[in-house]
Amino acid sequence: MVELRENEQKTLLALQKLNGKAGVNQITQASDLAHAAVMRAMLTLGEKKLVTVHEQEQKVVELSEEGKQHAEQGLPERRMINALIESGGKAETEAIVEKARLDQKFVPIALGWMHRKGWAALEDKRMLKAKEKAIPEGADEKLLSLLNAKGSATFDELDKSAQDAVMVLKGRKLLEVTEKTVRQLELTDAGSQLVGKGLELITEVSQLTPDLIITGKWRETKLRKFDVTAAGPEFYPAKAHPLQQVIQKAREIFLELGFTEIRGPLVETAFWNFDALFQPQDHPAREMMDTFYLANPKAGALPKKSVVNAVAKTHENGWVTGSKGWGYKWSPEEARRLVLRTHTTAETIKYLSKHRKPPIKVFSVDRVYRNERVDYRHTAEFHQIEGIVVDKGVTLRDLMGTLKTFYARFGLKKVRFWPCYFPYTEPSAEATVYVPKLKTWIELCGMGMFRPEVLAPMGIKYPVLAWGGGLERVAMLELGIEDIRLPYGNSLSWIRRTPLCQ
Ligand code: PHE
Repeated sequence: MVELRENEQKTLLALQKLNGKAGVNQITQASDLAHAAVMRAMLTLGEKKLVTVHEQEQKVVELSEEGKQHAEQGLPERRMINALIESGGKAETEAIVEKARLDQKFVPIALGWMHRKGWAALEDKRMLKAKEKAIPEGADEKLLSLLNAKGSATFDELDKSAQDAVMVLKGRKLLEVTEKTVRQLELTDAGSQLVGKGLELITEVSQLTPDLIITGKWRETKLRKFDVTAAGPEFYPAKAHPLQQVIQKAREIFLELGFTEIRGPLVETAFWNFDALFQPQDHPAREMMDTFYLANPKAGALPKKSVVNAVAKTHENGWVTGSKGWGYKWSPEEARRLVLRTHTTAETIKYLSKHRKPPIKVFSVDRVYRNERVDYRHTAEFHQIEGIVVDKGVTLRDLMGTLKTFYARFGLKKVRFWPCYFPYTEPSAEATVYVPKLKTWIELCGMGMFRPEVLAPMGIKYPVLAWGGGLERVAMLELGIEDIRLPYGNSLSWIRRTPLCQ
């Protein structure tokens, strides 16, 4: 005789009601069982060969936060067209925006989609005109309502028009599509026979109460056995953001290699960001295109006169360095301008101005800013991994070894160095890594030995190895992502999916 517990019996009965084959969600709805209880019952029924469990990887479609909002209030273009039709089909855009009570950020979206869907057109720039008196619900809107009611749907269960709508709404970031394992239960012959005979419900208790003991009822009670191998419910404990984990790992590697961490302010004077690094004041990197200059306050303080004068002379004629300099009149005003630092080399050179005695091994992993157009490979703020080594007799080869060791700890083994150019180092090189998955070489960092024009004004008499490179590149490889914006987007599902330990 097969002995079944209450939940298993209920699962079998629900399955029978559903014609012998159904998904876990359907069974949950058709019985009064919780999702986890059906999952547990499924495991035992599977072992007893009363049901077969079909597992399938499926694309599951769910609403994003913004999607939920639109599902409840209507898509921005729907709210706008409704307002327009209510106003007689023609009105000024501004009036309609007001009437539709649309958040400012949704206005261009609403206008764009009304146009794309052919619902309305703009006449002489200001007047909006509806093309029809009534506009039926589109496949995208039907899908939003469906998902709002059901919570989620698998891609395959949707009809063709809804599937097309998934693509569009995903592009609008109103949906999230994730791969999940979906389980279907099917009654086996043995299972059908058993339910056919009629099941006798055995009531089980999962907790022994004082009452059961005092009354002696425990003698007749059937206690539920625990299945310690059953999957528990998923839960998402708090954890550090994946990007912070990578930052932390970079820090730990440098600390283990005997480096000390330094940090500096996000806002620096152009002096430390550029001038001290022998970058001429008309250098293209300083232009507004790349650098964020502060509007208020505009200028900061320069360091002590002797350092400033030495930098000025080095730029103008090379000073005592043996170089000819850049041959222009150096301006202290230009050097005083405040910028959001464009690289953390500003911090290492500043550190050198105050620490001249070798050995020095310092690093920083910190934020920098550049006025870049944001796309899947660029963001206007990102992190750099930076550092210097100062000691008697150190050479570029020492730095190559240090960096190889560092990147190897991130699993980046095939690192190569190529000659390249920076205004503040000579020789200069660039480290790249071969990524087999992408079949390409990726730039990791710039490096070199600070030039005499950089060292002399700071009073440094020893060779200085310096390097700096993007952290996000390493993070993307480490986290297996292809879009640099992802770690900055607060996508909860991505954060949850990304494991705590890599
Ligand atoms: N500062 C350079 C950059 O931002 C990198 C670099 C640092 C190059 C130190 C040489 C020495 O790309």
